[in-house]
Amino acid sequence: MAADSRAAVGIIGGSSFSDGWLEKASSEAFFGETPYGLPSSPVREAEISGRRVLLLLRHGLGHRFPPHAVPYAANLWALKKAGAEAVIGLATVGGINEALPPGALCVPDDLVDRTWGRESTIYSSAKTGVRHVDFTRPFDEELRRRLILACRRARVSRLLEGGVYWCSQGPRLETAAEIRVIRALGGAMVGMTAATEAAVARELDVPYALLALCVNWAAGLHSSSDKVSLEVCGGENGCSSEDIRCVLEQFL
Ligand code: HPA
Repeated sequence: MAADSRAAVGIIGGSSFSDGWLEKASSEAFFGETPYGLPSSPVREAEISGRRVLLLLRHGLGHRFPPHAVPYAANLWALKKAGAEAVIGLATVGGINEALPPGALCVPDDLVDRTWGRESTIYSSAKTGVRHVDFTRPFDEELRRRLILACRRARVSRLLEGGVYWCSQGPRLETAAEIRVIRALGGAMVGMTAATEAAVARELDVPYALLALCVNWAAGLHSSSDKVSLEVCGGENGCSSEDIRCVLEQFL
């Protein structure tokens, strides 16, 4: 089936996505400088279920960019330029809410931004001017609704249909005490990228939602070893990046 030539959905692949997704993708849809510098990877065009999608790797080929150094504005701008009418961010998180164990998926409905010192706005100087975007609902509700429906259709066994994404600065993981504070303040999961990505997407008027894969219990919670390692927990007892591809097939 020919790829749909209408506007495409952009997908920003995070830590749980191997470079293979991009390698398999066909042609380059955007490569080079944006007004905000170079994106972390080229935008590649691919087909999922016969629909054209635009793929970009948040941390770059070979996972080079730490969360505070990801060129968020360049990434979103490049996807928009390549034709993305909406963007789905894929990211891993640590689970805090009991309903979000490792291997579960989540479509958060709110966030708290605890990052600092990042390029987190496109309105950063007198040259760019000032605009105060509404951010009451940081994730696009229509995209969230469609993502949740897609997860149900893909028969995802463990899904949290909401929850507050707490964005910490990283790249280090949190202390047990930090996670106790975050939990007391309502955080359901913790990650390092989505708050900045969602804010810049809103400033660029790109509808954005997050599909998060829990890869570990957050620090100090349910841990048998008293240590958190993202490498050992990834997707083994639950969803994998293949399952997320199935969700995307249903979404598109
Ligand atoms: N903390 C922050 N970010 C994360 C975690 C975590 O425990 N797991 C995956 N991304």
